Amino acid sequence: MVLALKTSGIRPAAPTFEEIFRDSEEAAASLDCEAPVLCFSPATLAAQAKQFIDGFSGEVAYAVKANPCPKVITVLAQAGVDVFDVASTMEMEAIARICPGAELHYHNPVKSRSEIATAWHAFGCRRFAADSHEEISKIAQTVGSSIGVEIAIRFCLPSQKASAHDFSSKFGADENTAAELMKRAAQCGFAPVLTFHPGSQCTDPQAWVRHIETAGRIAEAAGITLTRLNVGGGFPACYSGSSGPGLATYFRAIDDSVSAVFGDNPPALECEPGRSIAAPAFSLLTSVKLVRARSADLFLNDGIYGGLLEVTQVSDLLPFYRVLRNGQVVSTTDQHAFTVFGPTCDPLDVLPVPLLLPSDIRETDVIEFAGIGAYGMATATNFNGYGSVSQVTVKNAYTGDNNC
Ligand SMILES: Cc1ncc(COP(=O)(O)O)c(C=O)c1O
Repeated sequence: MVLALKTSGIRPAAPTFEEIFRDSEEAAASLDCEAPVLCFSPATLAAQAKQFIDGFSGEVAYAVKANPCPKVITVLAQAGVDVFDVASTMEMEAIARICPGAELHYHNPVKSRSEIATAWHAFGCRRFAADSHEEISKIAQTVGSSIGVEIAIRFCLPSQKASAHDFSSKFGADENTAAELMKRAAQCGFAPVLTFHPGSQCTDPQAWVRHIETAGRIAEAAGITLTRLNVGGGFPACYSGSSGPGLATYFRAIDDSVSAVFGDNPPALECEPGRSIAAPAFSLLTSVKLVRARSADLFLNDGIYGGLLEVTQVSDLLPFYRVLRNGQVVSTTDQHAFTVFGPTCDPLDVLPVPLLLPSDIRETDVIEFAGIGAYGMATATNFNGYGSVSQVTVKNAYTGDNNC
């Protein structure tokens, strides 16, 4: 046994997925949960990837930043993903180790010259994103006018107000600049393509439609036939305060608008989801360290410096959650709003919204958070000496809401 079961009292640090349980209830019943436990369902991950591969009419790249865990990459590669959106050379290394033949899209629009050179020479990367003349110059000066290099011009629209994270304040050229950049990339000897990101956890399919219409105008203004269009990530996962209408609705909106804009000569499509693929495959078991009954304060063994950072950025991204006691779901209408603190000594380590929990919640009860697979593990820190998690495999993931 690698993990500490309830009786052993010894828990080695951060074991990784060797233990297999039917579901998180069984895991919670068997483990001591002294450290938070990540429950990973490879089947759920593969099913999410398959939804994209079968339903999206183009190439599906996985945005590694959402969850770079080697197990995740391995399952996705087995499910048929062989293109990866990478943001750094570290991510390239992670992919090269697991799937050496994979195609890499270096879609971080800002890269140092050294990163560009490493991507080009060490990892054979032939796709670079840019949203400025300066970045195109850096790429041209680093790789020369090499045949077969594609520059993905990243454009943006003003905030669509439909996403949890709006990227347009940081990345993306406006429509006119994007047309100039396409021409500039072509003059440098590169193949120009277009890319956009409507914002992470974007719930409105029309946001994609507006971007695709803009892509049509940009290519026309540049006088360049668009051969490839990357419609980004941004597809939503399910949170208690935010979810979308289902992936098929997004895919239909994208197909319809590409037909309307490009007619008989459509660009080849690509997407690069992270959140929507990775989120539902993991849940997080956190255990209650203390309940201060009088003030309705509750302390967990994980918090915003661990797997729950995103809740502090956008409270709509509060995951679905439930309480387990001895592996059984506690369902009661006798609930109370608790202020939930994480384990560190930092007063900022508190969830921004109270959680409705059973009034009799007690030490060692487990609060399970669903859909923690994207940007939860990836952004967790070891602040204050916390952050170590146990990782187990489950056959069925707790996703919080069967309708999602
Ligand atoms: C260039 C790029 N592509 C794809 C993604 C993945 O986005 P999401 O996780 O919202 O699907 C991101 C997220 O930051 C990104 O920057």
